[in-house]
Amino acid sequence: PRTTKSKLSKADRQAQLEIVAGEVSQCQKCPELASTRTQTVFGVGNPKAKIMFIGEAPGADEDKQGEPFVGRAGKLLDKIIEACQMKRSEIYIANILRCRPPGNRNPTDQEAANCRGFLDSQIEIVDPDYIVCWGSVAAKNLLHSEMPIGKMRGQFYEYGRAKVVCTYHPSYLLRNPSAKKNVWDDMIFLFQDMGIDLKA
Ligand code: URA
Repeated sequence: PRTTKSKLSKADRQAQLEIVAGEVSQCQKCPELASTRTQTVFGVGNPKAKIMFIGEAPGADEDKQGEPFVGRAGKLLDKIIEACQMKRSEIYIANILRCRPPGNRNPTDQEAANCRGFLDSQIEIVDPDYIVCWGSVAAKNLLHSEMPIGKMRGQFYEYGRAKVVCTYHPSYLLRNPSAKKNVWDDMIFLFQDMGIDLKA
C-alpha cells in the first residue's frame, strides 16, 4: 500500500470530486432523506488537503446552503480552525451523511452505510494525511467502533493511509464549553505529529 500522498494534481482531484458530487446530488438510496432534503451537502475545501474533517450530517443551515458546517456548530469549528492557525479553505470538510436527517435525528446505520461509498471516494481522492472525526457518529461510523468518544480521544487510529484523531463534536462543545480544552489538547496532539507546536 502507498505510504505517501497520491501524485494527482489539485485540478484532477477537484474534477474527480465534482463527478462524485454529481452522483450524490441524484442519490435516492435513502428514500426518507431524499424526499425531505432541500439539497445534498457534499463537501467543501481543498481537494488536496493534508487534513480532512468528518462530521455527522447536515443540519438545517447546511441543508439550506449546501455546505457542511455553516451553522452555529460550524462557526465554532471555524474558531477552532483559526486557533490552529489554519484557514477553512486549507482543510477538506465532509460528513458521514450528505443529506439532512429530519429534525436532526441521528443517522441510522443503514443511512450511514448507504452514504459510505461517497465518503470513501472523497477520502480516496483527497487522500489526506490526517482525518479528524468530530463526534461519536463520525468516529463510530468511520472506525466501526462502539467506544464512547471520550475513550477514543488521545491516540491515532488508522484509516487507509491517514492517521485519524477523534474528538468532541462542536455541537457538544456548544452545550459543554468546558470540553473545549479537551478538543484543544486533541488539536495540539495532531499538529505536534505534523511538527507544528500550537502552544508556541
Ligand atoms: N454538524 C455536522 O456534523 N455537520 C455539519 O455539516 C453541520 C453540523
